[in-house]
Amino acid sequence: MIHMKKNYEGNYDTDTEILYRGTEVSGIAENPETLPIYHSTAYCVKDTDDYTFANNGGKYFYNRTANPNRDCLGEAISYLENGEKTIICSSGMAAISTALLGLLKNGDHAVISKAIYGETIELIENMLSKYGIEITFADFTNEKEVEKSVKPNTVLFYTEIIANPLTLVVDIEKIASIAKKHNILTVVDSTFTTPFVIKPLDFGADIVIHSLTKYFGGHSDITGGSITSNESIIKRLMPSYLLLGCCMDPNTAWLTSRSIKTMAMRVRLQNSNAVKLAHALSLNPKIKTVFHPSIETHPQHEIAKRMFSDGFYGAMMSFRVEDDIKKVNEFMHRLKIVKYMGTLGGIRTTIAHPATAFRNEFSDEELKSMGMYEGLIRISTGAENADDLINDFNQALEVF
Ligand SMILES: Cc1ncc(COP(=O)(O)O)c(C=O)c1O
Repeated sequence: MIHMKKNYEGNYDTDTEILYRGTEVSGIAENPETLPIYHSTAYCVKDTDDYTFANNGGKYFYNRTANPNRDCLGEAISYLENGEKTIICSSGMAAISTALLGLLKNGDHAVISKAIYGETIELIENMLSKYGIEITFADFTNEKEVEKSVKPNTVLFYTEIIANPLTLVVDIEKIASIAKKHNILTVVDSTFTTPFVIKPLDFGADIVIHSLTKYFGGHSDITGGSITSNESIIKRLMPSYLLLGCCMDPNTAWLTSRSIKTMAMRVRLQNSNAVKLAHALSLNPKIKTVFHPSIETHPQHEIAKRMFSDGFYGAMMSFRVEDDIKKVNEFMHRLKIVKYMGTLGGIRTTIAHPATAFRNEFSDEELKSMGMYEGLIRISTGAENADDLINDFNQALEVF
């Protein structure tokens, strides 16, 4: 037994003893192969000077302010994104809220991509408008439209790189150069792409956000978000992060750090499977269109080829079949390994039905204008054997 401290033995009543027994490690436990989980809400300070030192960021003090597991996870993400610092949040939406509420104030104008995650649109439309922030939605695949939307009070551009569900690709380099010309910050949600496909900061973006719930977590068992940028922007965002109180819990940070160790292998395999699957589906006569940037007829194929690394095009795609919801459901029932699920980026291939997902938020006409027809099915490609996946889709597609 090397770890038991006996400072309190026998001196106090049991009710007191039990609070102090078995709570400190006296043996040496240096350099464990995996980082311990620091669950502690707070850390003892010796006196008021020590408190002041801790409270000014000198050492760990209170979990919502800083935690070793979140800091280690942040360091790994900063490395992957070529950023200086990363804030780790309790969800992708928490990261987006922290960034937008931290950067925008009453009277500011922001230009936002039309083709972004539905709940980000809700946040912007329903919440930012309450604080006197002016918004213009624009098509970010059309740089002229984006530049025309700029006003004297524009301070921020916000976009994703591969937009859901039609996989439109934004030329982030061009968008960031327009932003720089007008002294505007570019915020990019790179959840669909991951740093193995593109590192937006290298292309001139100022801030990159991820829903860690997806490819970073990779196993559909965590919820988290990140904001990566330079030191001064992260410093600007810290008050909103601390005051909104949306920190990730240490256990989840530990799990996400563990997942990151296999992220390169997972995401590379998912991306190469996606190219194979998109090609195979494009040959299936039951399918009208496959939406994946690897397809040569995709409107931004050349942009994706130039910007993305290693011949990857992202592991998200969609395809359109007949707009017959009965057959769409029958197709789902017939799939043997692929599951229908409200997430993406997991190790197993999943599908989603965008028109059903957004029926409460948008009218039929709005859904169609965004390409969300009854016959549109989205795929998040997993790490299965590519032939098994292709066969599963092809046999289920026989229903059409
Ligand atoms: C592109 C994108 N950004 C942000 C989010 C929100 O992430 P979370 O569910 O972790 O809050 C999602 C969720 O699906 C997403 O797809």
